[in-house]
Amino acid sequence: MKHFLDITQLTRDDIDELLERALHFKYSEDYDYPNHARHSVATLFYENSTRTRVSFQLAAQRLAMPVINVDLNHSSENKGETIEDSFKNLAAMGIECFVLRHSEEGLPQKLAEKLKKSCHVINAGEGKRGHPSQAMLDLMTISEKKPNLSDLKITVIGNIRHSRVANSFQQLCKKVNVGELVFVAPEIWQPEQLTFGTVTTSLEKGLKDADVIMCLRVQHERIQLEEQMDLATYQQHYRLSTANLYYAKKDAFILHPGPINRGVEITDEAADGPQSCILQQVENGVYMRMAIFDLLLR
Ligand code: CP
Repeated sequence: MKHFLDITQLTRDDIDELLERALHFKYSEDYDYPNHARHSVATLFYENSTRTRVSFQLAAQRLAMPVINVDLNHSSENKGETIEDSFKNLAAMGIECFVLRHSEEGLPQKLAEKLKKSCHVINAGEGKRGHPSQAMLDLMTISEKKPNLSDLKITVIGNIRHSRVANSFQQLCKKVNVGELVFVAPEIWQPEQLTFGTVTTSLEKGLKDADVIMCLRVQHERIQLEEQMDLATYQQHYRLSTANLYYAKKDAFILHPGPINRGVEITDEAADGPQSCILQQVENGVYMRMAIFDLLLR
């Protein structure tokens, strides 16, 4: 694997290897991590981020990689330099790994083609199109709790249409043959097309006998005027609470990629309760991103 751009590029062997390595790093008692000190990484986040940005930084540091967090408020792009030229200049200085979050779809792929052979581009969130490292850490969290993926019913609730998390997750569920994937959303936020899974407007139907429940944030920044929905109506019909958890299996667990809008897509009781694995996802994010660097650099 040369770049980490998209779930569709991954083979089943890549997916299994990433899971295996991430779990190995997580449970390694002697912290005997690979040393990639010769490979420098630059993180470039053109959209806001807490979890993805920090976990990629931590992952690189644990592998002894020098990390440069490019300060985009003071970069030469503000003086008219193109992003392609910025990347090429960073590559000329010896940066090999580029962790990129950007609203422009297709940009990670385009930059990957333009850079010299020794460089690796990692997609850390691309418009509405993809967030592949998030999908991988979600799968890691699910596999730890319930490894028989073909027996699972996974329910994803929220604004599916604008969600890069839902998009990559759907592609990954298809690749690993998840038993059943159900998206629950009001019609206005349903996906324009699905390659895997089904969609319903009914929270009760979606949650019935679910093994895993993933809530998504309402992505206000990507919703067009004609796609707006009254938040009070959304909360009434789609917010996950401990009361409607009752429809799911007793041992169902809750995921959320974050950031959470408390009270909008999930209540405090559900987000912080015993069935929540939200912080386990965040913890796993560091190990999965270590595995991604390691696979690219080996
Ligand atoms: N899940 C996720 O992408 O969170 P951040 O926006 O904080 O990186």
